[in-house]
Amino acid sequence: PAIATVIPAAGVGKRMQADKPKQYLQLCGLTVLEQTLHRLKQVPALQQFYLALSPDDPYFPALPLANDPKIQRLNGGAERANSVLNALLQIDAQQYPWVLVHDAARPAVRVSDIELLIQSCIQQGQGGILATPVRDTMKRGSDTVQHTVDRAGLWHAYTPQLFPTAQLKDALQQALAQGVAITDEASAMEWAGLPVLLVQGHADNIKITQAEDLALAAFYLEHSV
Ligand code: CTP
Ligand code: MG
Repeated sequence: PAIATVIPAAGVGKRMQADKPKQYLQLCGLTVLEQTLHRLKQVPALQQFYLALSPDDPYFPALPLANDPKIQRLNGGAERANSVLNALLQIDAQQYPWVLVHDAARPAVRVSDIELLIQSCIQQGQGGILATPVRDTMKRGSDTVQHTVDRAGLWHAYTPQLFPTAQLKDALQQALAQGVAITDEASAMEWAGLPVLLVQGHADNIKITQAEDLALAAFYLEHSV
């Protein structure tokens, strides 16, 4: 079945404290956004990309990607979830029964992990996300430890996240309308009572968030495919 790809790239990158949004910082000779698209485009199942940009983004039009006929631009919203919903509203669920959402700020996702997510979800007919089991001992507390949280069954959630388009559109729309805090697509699906598969990926799929993440992403980009 056909899959549409949504890339939220309308953030300002406050925590990065750089002179431009982090998706436009340089990483191994290209911008972060170009590196992310380079990985996504290596997956043959992904043919159409919906890119959510800030309405006054001056950077994207200057990239060679601006002329790519597979990339459709649209305006992002105030929060990531609004950017994703704006994209979903442009997508015909009949034409694209599945939608894959991937952060612009995750350039080091492995192509084989994207393939695994797609294969697992479509085979089982359920949405799902890339994730890895938590490795460190987990504590709850503020100044001092209240208690140790049992690590069993805890996962780090990443993108891409893949869902039936119509289900995700409805879930996100309803959750946002009711003021539910939505951090990722899966949280909207969970809120709607819909299943989300956990597909084990790799921890090198970091989200570039702070300045020091760029060097790590560069290392991962050069050492994985
Ligand atoms: N994003 C978006 N629309 C928003 C906010 C975020 O499309 N209104 C995108 C970002 O561009 C990024 C992804 O969602 O690719 C993940 O968000 P995050 O890492 O939080 O990026 P920023 O919001 O840009 O960073 P910060 O929270 O530090 O400001
Ligand atoms: Mg943010």
